[in-house]
Amino acid sequence: MQRICSSASERRGMDTSSQSFELAELKQAFHMLTSVSKKMELSYERLKGQAEELKQELYEKNAKLVFSLREQERLEGFLEGILQNLPVGILVTDEAGKIRLANQKASDILERTERDLLGAGYADFEILGEVPLKPGASLEKRKGRTVYSCSVSSLSGSGTGDRGWVILIEDVTEIGRWKALAERQKRLSSMGEMGARIAHEIRNPLGSMELNAAMLLEELEGNPALYALAGRLASGVRTVTQTLSNLLNFAKGTDPRWERLEIPRLVGEALDFTGPLLREHQVRVQQDYAEQACSVLGDRILLRQALLNLIVNAVEGMEPGGCLRIGTVKQEETTGVWRGSPVMKVFVQDSGNGIPEGELDRIFDPFFTTKSQGTGLGLAIVNNIVESHGGIVEVESRVGTGSCFVMSLPCQQEESYDGYAAHPCGG
Ligand SMILES: Nc1ncnc2c1ncn2[C@@H]1O[C@H](COP(=O)(O)OP(=O)(O)O)[C@@H](O)[C@H]1O
Ligand SMILES: [Mg+2]
Repeated sequence: MQRICSSASERRGMDTSSQSFELAELKQAFHMLTSVSKKMELSYERLKGQAEELKQELYEKNAKLVFSLREQERLEGFLEGILQNLPVGILVTDEAGKIRLANQKASDILERTERDLLGAGYADFEILGEVPLKPGASLEKRKGRTVYSCSVSSLSGSGTGDRGWVILIEDVTEIGRWKALAERQKRLSSMGEMGARIAHEIRNPLGSMELNAAMLLEELEGNPALYALAGRLASGVRTVTQTLSNLLNFAKGTDPRWERLEIPRLVGEALDFTGPLLREHQVRVQQDYAEQACSVLGDRILLRQALLNLIVNAVEGMEPGGCLRIGTVKQEETTGVWRGSPVMKVFVQDSGNGIPEGELDRIFDPFFTTKSQGTGLGLAIVNNIVESHGGIVEVESRVGTGSCFVMSLPCQQEESYDGYAAHPCGG
């Protein structure tokens, strides 16, 4: 019993010691847990900090990316804007000439939407048809009244797919117009100088020939055969003298006396002068003036002379019953010496036979005439007169349709542009 008791108390003692052992273990474990959890907490805090840093970094990188993306988009838009607004047509093709990009001007010139252009062959378009795909190739083509210069350069991209061609299509009509005028002016002034020198050289001997021919005629009055010969000689000399005086008139230059002129009144005077000729040829006359005041500073006699020459040419260029249209248009020049200033355009338009393309360059040259009785000085004189007023004279003519001569004179008032009607006399 005691034994039992002792062993019970022993057992109790044993229980207590194992309990305290367990407690110690538990305590240790708890300590470990606390320290581990502290460590974990620390690592968690560290990780959290790192995650926060990474998040911040990511945020910054993202912001930079968005910014550079926007910047790229802005740049793209900017370049696209430049491309679309360039006053030159631009086509980018692949190596075979298939269009991959076209700007607005190219669409306008080729009269196709950008969508229609993409994928089409560049050579399908008339003005580009003969342009070879070679670096530096260039060709001028006419489309109606407009002259286009088409030039090619090669596009060397980074990848093979990026290679191709850039085709520029530029409207060079105005450049050509001013170039032709400058060339004409240069040619005429050298012709004028030469003419004046020749006239000067032959004037004196011609004067004595005229005098001698007159004396000879007097001497030969009794001899009809010789008198006729001398008569022909005298008339030949007279013709040469007349030509010479025309030449001198042309070469001596003009010095305008300036006054303010109303164009309708000036035209009225020129039409009065040519009345008999107009009636004889049954010419219908239509006058058409710009709504605004039609006055310029100029020389009445000289400008009337220029109008007369143009009217006579118009009548001579038409069959009887033709139509003559005279008037004015006010326009602001966009190119050349008068860029931005108003210009008075006085036009004389006929419904005649027109002038062949090959002659258009020469009609202003002195002594160029296609008429058996012509002097070839009318237009050279018109050119001189208009030039002495600081203006230019130009012609547009189509065989079978008629011609329109336009004198452009600088003027002081600002007015708007009307444009010419397509046909004289409303036809
Ligand atoms: N309105 C016109 N219609 C057709 N041809 C014209 C016209 N005006 C001028 N021409 C051409 O220009 C040439 C030169 O004209 P111009 O200098 O006046 O000399 P001319 O009248 O003496 O021949 C004319 O011979 C003609 O061939
Ligand atoms: Mg003439």
